[in-house]
Amino acid sequence: MFPIHRPRRLRSTPQLRRMVRETSVTASDLIYPLFAVPGEGVANEVKSMPGVYQLSVDKIVEEAKQVYDLGIPSIILFGIPESKDTEATGAWHDCGMIQKATTAIKEAVPDLVVIADTCLCEYTSHGHCGYLEMGDLTGRVLNDPTLELLKKTAISQVQAGADIIAPSGMMDGFVQAIRSGLDEAGFPDIPILSYAAKYASSYYGPFRDAADGAPQFGDRATYQMDPGNSREALKEVALDVAEGADMIMVKPALAYMDIIWQVKQATNLPVAAYNVSGEYAMVKAAAGNGWLNEERVVMETLTSFKRAGADLILTYHAKDAVRWLK
Ligand code: PBG
Ligand code: ZN
Repeated sequence: MFPIHRPRRLRSTPQLRRMVRETSVTASDLIYPLFAVPGEGVANEVKSMPGVYQLSVDKIVEEAKQVYDLGIPSIILFGIPESKDTEATGAWHDCGMIQKATTAIKEAVPDLVVIADTCLCEYTSHGHCGYLEMGDLTGRVLNDPTLELLKKTAISQVQAGADIIAPSGMMDGFVQAIRSGLDEAGFPDIPILSYAAKYASSYYGPFRDAADGAPQFGDRATYQMDPGNSREALKEVALDVAEGADMIMVKPALAYMDIIWQVKQATNLPVAAYNVSGEYAMVKAAAGNGWLNEERVVMETLTSFKRAGADLILTYHAKDAVRWLK
């Protein structure tokens, strides 16, 4: 018998395929990460992330204009400070790198949505995401003292012009602490994009070159999530929602598609997926060797994040993706 049902009927031309496509990526879905460093005229390419640069404020402003002109609505900023200390001064100081870059970008491109990554790891001498007792080499980050520093950091980032605060340190109660801090400081309308389900992942390797934020001892397993857990991700998400998160992030993305899907089913908030540095580096390395078609692999991957439930995607491929969409 010949088949009656012929799904191939709707695949026969590019136009038909376009008409019945369920999921597609648009520029509006994308958030582009940028790294601000001290100095002037600085553009250091990150070795493990070809095409990604640490940029001084003057250069980051040029880059932000380009991003905006491409139709990408938003960037997320990371800062690399002049010097690091146990109090993470560079995170919350008015002259911190995120603060300076934010102010300059908002002045030059007011409509570009600036998301400030709110964490301490780039600014602490030990490279952990929170505060720890002097001389504590076990790397046991103290939760509640860290909350005070995160609050200060978020307030100062918003005072500098940040539109959205994205706390990434996986401290218990950080959304509530930052929410109340922002409210008390007179910023009740600034949304929080919480890195709610962030795993202790080896895919962050290249980022730690880019942001110079590798822990000097120990690892992040006492605050970031264990890769074996998914019910726990739903618990983290539920807590952050209860604490007032406006958007929820899952990170990394590629190896955690099931988490993106489950989180999407569990919340009616926008869900963001972070296509992290290691995912970028793998594609770049393979493409550089001629082993993969970069454009097709990236577009397939980004589409798959959306199919899994992501509303927003943070990706180092954002600028390329938008060009490929045209
Ligand atoms: C630090 C932070 C990390 C990333 C974003 N914020 C690294 C880490 O937790 O060690 C990773 C991003 C990437 O790999 O692209 N809080
Ligand atoms: Zn951190």
